[in-house]
Amino acid sequence: MKSNLRIYIFGASGDLAKRKIFPALFELFSRGLLPENIEFVGYARTAMNNDEFRKILFELLTCRYVPGESCQEYMDKFLDKCVYRQGMYDSQSLDSVFAKYDSVTNNIFYMALPPGAYVDAVGAIAGAKVFEYCKDELKVVLEKPFGHSLESSEELHQTLSQYFSEEQFFRIDHYLGKDLVQDILVLRFANIFFEPVWNSKYIESVDIIWEETLSLQGRAGYFDKYGIIRDVIQNHLIQILALVAMEPIERLDSNNVSMAKLKVLESVDELKESDALVGQYRGNGYVPAYLEEDGVPSNSKTPTYAKVKLNINNDRWQGVPFTIIAGKGLDHNVTRVVVSFKNSETLFENTCDSNKKSNRLVIQIQPEAQIYLEICNKTPGEGFKLAKQKLNLLYSQAYDEEIPDAYASLILDVIHGDKNMFVGIEELWASWKIFDDYLFKSEHELAKVPVAYEFGANENSIEEEI
Ligand code: BG6
Repeated sequence: MKSNLRIYIFGASGDLAKRKIFPALFELFSRGLLPENIEFVGYARTAMNNDEFRKILFELLTCRYVPGESCQEYMDKFLDKCVYRQGMYDSQSLDSVFAKYDSVTNNIFYMALPPGAYVDAVGAIAGAKVFEYCKDELKVVLEKPFGHSLESSEELHQTLSQYFSEEQFFRIDHYLGKDLVQDILVLRFANIFFEPVWNSKYIESVDIIWEETLSLQGRAGYFDKYGIIRDVIQNHLIQILALVAMEPIERLDSNNVSMAKLKVLESVDELKESDALVGQYRGNGYVPAYLEEDGVPSNSKTPTYAKVKLNINNDRWQGVPFTIIAGKGLDHNVTRVVVSFKNSETLFENTCDSNKKSNRLVIQIQPEAQIYLEICNKTPGEGFKLAKQKLNLLYSQAYDEEIPDAYASLILDVIHGDKNMFVGIEELWASWKIFDDYLFKSEHELAKVPVAYEFGANENSIEEEI
């Protein structure tokens, strides 16, 4: 058996594989982070030959990590290692397509597939004779959404675990691969001054804000069944909440991180109807309304915006609202965490800011990576005139390095078998539990109608409309 690595990408002709996975693999390859003996095998039902596949990939690879003059050379070398095979997701097809493949030490199967296809695809790998030799060691990467509800995610897990052990599954949430999301752990646990104030005595509220200017971009078939809460809140944003709110850990290993996240997620009260606002964008004359998008039923009540207030029922966070806001079709792109501290007793006659809090810690994950602390400061001059200022860490100024792509970081973790930044099954269920009852009631019993907001609206104006 050759000592090398083969990464199979199932669903290779789809958007996720072409736009995210292969470019991330190229990034790792061009940064020299992958073993010399590596092969990338795209697999999907679409008929295509190697050249056609490579041509598609070529258009989508970028030279972020390779100096311009050598980029072409890297691309050629990378594309040489990419092959495409057409086939169905059953063992027989895998056996016939991969009959002549030799054995390698490490095999990773990336499921870049619609969630409905997981069971067949994973079952097909487990049943294929060609993969029998590596059955106990191979790794399977699963994308979100993992299920549509608590029940369906439990069922999915039960089915998949007949095929492989829990250690072999890597449930990816690409937000956990973002540098600034990982930095939440470092900020909290490598700086002595945060921990003493990281609780309800000093913190007034925490907001996790996710705004996107995009519409559906051809994903209506998926999105309309899931809606914004399942698309980004139940996974990406709740994972951020868990990192912000979890108890300190003693050592950085996947078990510790996952247990700490699980514990805090289990303390989050189930979302109540009165703590949720939902909206759906209407057209603005340039961009059609959600209801006019191809593939969206004209009576769809699927929300494209949601604002939910969550309470964490433990000693640290009692009474501190955690608000998550997420919306598509808004006026700008941003993902940030805002921790607002309580006002301090002041010695001074005037305050820094009578309405807003003087001290806020803002962790801006994107578009521009930035962490700043708003403080109350004395303006230069006689007397004590106070004004707010920022202690500002702007990544583009502080670091020469490019921030790696989230998928690249996580794929590297899969290769190394490092599960720190993957989602444990119980965490996943705990996060479904927060939203399950609300989603069921709002979709079935109440048939909740989202409030319409104009495409391109500002988040603050939506609240007024709602
Ligand atoms: C995906 C969601 O998981 O994350 C999309 O399905 C969303 O709807 C995307 O647009 C956002 O990811 P990023 O990395 O571009 O912020």
